[in-house]
Amino acid sequence: MNSRFSFVLGLSLAVLAPQTVSAETVWLDQLDVRSAIQGWGEPHKNKSVEGHALTIGGKEFTRGFGTHAESILNINLGGGAQSFFASVGVDDEVNSNAQSSVEFFVIGDGKTLWSSGVLRANDAAKSCEVELSGVKSLTLKVGDAGDGVNFDHADWVDAKFETAGAKTFVASGEEIPDPVAPYILTPNQPATPRINGASVFGVRPGSPFLFTIPATGERPMKFSAKNLPNGLKLDAKTGHITGVLKTKGEFIVTLRAKNSLGTAEKKFRIVVGDQIALTPPMGWNSWNCFAGAVSEERVKSAADALVKSGLINHGWTYINVDDFWQNHRDSQDPTLRGKFRDEKGFIVPNSRFPDMKGLADYIHYLGLKAGLYSSPGPWTCGGCAASWQHEEQDAQTYAQWGFDYLKYDWCSYGEIASGGDPNAKNIPLWGKTATNDAGAIYPYKVMGKFLREQKRDIIFSLCQYGMADVWNWGGSVNGNCWRTTGDIVDTWRSMSGIGFKQDKAAPFAKPGNWNDPDMLIVGQVGWGRTHPTRLTPDEQYTHISLWCLLSAPLLIGCDMTKLDDFTLSLLSNDEVLALDQDALGKEARCVLTNGDLRVYEKELEDGGRALGFFNLGAKPANLDFNNFAALNLTGTFHVRDLWRQKNAATVDTAKDSLPLTIPAHGVVLYKLAPTK
Ligand code: GAL
Repeated sequence: MNSRFSFVLGLSLAVLAPQTVSAETVWLDQLDVRSAIQGWGEPHKNKSVEGHALTIGGKEFTRGFGTHAESILNINLGGGAQSFFASVGVDDEVNSNAQSSVEFFVIGDGKTLWSSGVLRANDAAKSCEVELSGVKSLTLKVGDAGDGVNFDHADWVDAKFETAGAKTFVASGEEIPDPVAPYILTPNQPATPRINGASVFGVRPGSPFLFTIPATGERPMKFSAKNLPNGLKLDAKTGHITGVLKTKGEFIVTLRAKNSLGTAEKKFRIVVGDQIALTPPMGWNSWNCFAGAVSEERVKSAADALVKSGLINHGWTYINVDDFWQNHRDSQDPTLRGKFRDEKGFIVPNSRFPDMKGLADYIHYLGLKAGLYSSPGPWTCGGCAASWQHEEQDAQTYAQWGFDYLKYDWCSYGEIASGGDPNAKNIPLWGKTATNDAGAIYPYKVMGKFLREQKRDIIFSLCQYGMADVWNWGGSVNGNCWRTTGDIVDTWRSMSGIGFKQDKAAPFAKPGNWNDPDMLIVGQVGWGRTHPTRLTPDEQYTHISLWCLLSAPLLIGCDMTKLDDFTLSLLSNDEVLALDQDALGKEARCVLTNGDLRVYEKELEDGGRALGFFNLGAKPANLDFNNFAALNLTGTFHVRDLWRQKNAATVDTAKDSLPLTIPAHGVVLYKLAPTK
């Protein structure tokens, strides 16, 4: 017996009464078991480690997790599970090999709650029942029983949690930080007026102008502006600036917001020219919460909530409808069935969206902007009608309805790009990627051209997951932002895996062109069936800090009608958001890696530097940071803690160090401003 595991012997096992009934069953195979760390091969859901049907002692099982010793799967239960049931054993695929010997362990908050004893090839599956009430972090472990890992193919079968309502848990091979309750760092907003948001705004000559002055402070508030160019007017009550500017040029305007407690002013630069999206777009998108269950009502409620929650006062602007506003090619859902296009070839929205122009008008009336989604292939990624061979008509339609943003995916175009029969009935939604750069670029060039021809500023967002190094050419096809990655989900692995791998594209970000590491996963998310984000509070601070440092488009992905105070605090910290919206438009890069520490640095328009000190480890980190040379910093700086909106220190890089306490998977976000 391996000495590491001998301590479990003699522990009494908690066995459950079989009739325990609970509100929800969460199967182990519903979690991300592929994130397990193991000694050999790949972890599999519902299959053995070699990919065969799960079989123990001659009996086949359909559900479970096939792994290999030594194997670790950590599950963040957060106290939400009541019990765990499974059967365990060596998979028959080892063909009676005498070297196969394993031992299974269920470990809760560091204590072994159950162990199987040594199991060998051909042994019958052993059943496991463990009481879990109050357990926060669970580890499912398979040891090698002390004789090395050879032929230790191990199966957890029929494995499930009974819960009192929890619908899912996060699983990970990595160590999970100790649970921390949400804690709010963003200070309350003052009642006196403050003008937030970007200090620059781009518009094309002749396009309708809409900008809402984002200002916090007690209402009623009266807005005014000095040097507003001819052609624009400001609504003093709402702060909406509208109109049209006919000729190219630059205007420096002074925006003013006044309430009974005081007056705030801010310089604001309007640039009438070719480029729009001079700062990364900020808003909401329907996909990460509603996915295929989006509807006009839900979109309007999101827009209402963006205003009512006050997020509009921090610069959040776009309300974007993702996939499923069109009719579907084969869905059984009657609300998604109908003509794809009319006799003239114009797209027909599905019955959940009876009045697209009305929807855009509604959003504009609130001072917000509206966005839509399509794909260059015949079908979107969800299988709805898309733009292939109707690109010009679609661009015209979006403009005529009044939409201001188009997210343009890739799905079902791969077949066409690689020379498949474009008229084939069953063009796969997924499948081929572009076979050459020209094939990858072409569909975006087409749509980019037609969008530019409209008399409306429509942000063009390319959603092709970074194929063909899109950052090299996205701007040349009129793209304003482009995804650099596949889809994000609300796990540490997904978010950190994407967020900390953006350096390659970073030099290509600039006003008008932004790298897009995908949408935000804070709040209630869930692609049709929402749950609170599975990111810990510190992981959420990391997520928002990193996306702002990266000058990423910020698209909230949660159910806006269910915003909680913590989520709201993450999305309304103006000093943090100011990094994202900084007019210089430089994307941060990782300037220092040391163990689990990553330091990101972003140059700012005012000569300051934003620094993100990230701790990728699962334990808090305490350090005295003095490697300023790695950040190219010399001199004396005021150090501002952006989340707390407080001055933290003044440092002289020649002699001082910065004491840092960085939470597990968390961040310390500072701005350094030269004292002179
Ligand atoms: C994916 C895209 C998602 C969402 C989805 C719609 O390809 O990355 O963000 O738009 O399509 O079906």
